[in-house]
Amino acid sequence: MHPETSITRKRIAFLASGRGSNFQAVIDAVAAGTIPATCTGLVTDNPRAYAIERAKSAGVPVTVVDYARFSSKAAYEEALLHAMRGCRADLFVLAGYMRILGPVIVHEFSGRMMNIHPALLPAFAGLHAQRQAVEYGVKVAGCTVHLVDEGLDTGPIVVQRCVPVLPDDDETTLADRILIEEHKALPLAVQLFCEERLDVDGRRVRVL
Ligand code: GAR
Repeated sequence: MHPETSITRKRIAFLASGRGSNFQAVIDAVAAGTIPATCTGLVTDNPRAYAIERAKSAGVPVTVVDYARFSSKAAYEEALLHAMRGCRADLFVLAGYMRILGPVIVHEFSGRMMNIHPALLPAFAGLHAQRQAVEYGVKVAGCTVHLVDEGLDTGPIVVQRCVPVLPDDDETTLADRILIEEHKALPLAVQLFCEERLDVDGRRVRVL
């Protein structure tokens, strides 16, 4: 039980493809007691993802579903879904998962899957969001945590945080500034879900 409410600890699991710093931010918040949850698994499509080392250090079970070993996206997603079901998670967190999920997985985890994206959606969806922001010339950038629907970075928005874009920024300096905010936004969004404080009404998410 969460100390101040009657909420049962949630089971949260993760999909990550790479470095895993957002994954780390969430497991740190769980370890600190800020998020009333148990981390039940990391599933990755990349056997070289540094997120795997982070999971091992934190005692989070890892399943590798190596994309390169499958002959089709359908076969890969069938194995991925099997691995995800094995985590028996209330919430799946996409923490730097760099592939588009197919409709079967999105449907199964509808309302209980979140993604972190390094832009102020609906601007700059898809890959290289920070580069898109610099090239467009926006003065404010940021990050978005949203529920996952069948579109590309289109689901209902849970948390956004912004940063200035400075005159000499390039993709890397802007990404570094946004990442600091990502590490606050994602744990907060996961915390709100785990505390059952998200009220989703169509596109609009109200924090209770
Ligand atoms: C983060 O900036 C995340 O927002 C982005 O990948 C990075 C992963 O870093 N995700 C996407 O672009 C998804 N479309 P991390 O592995 O250190 O968390």
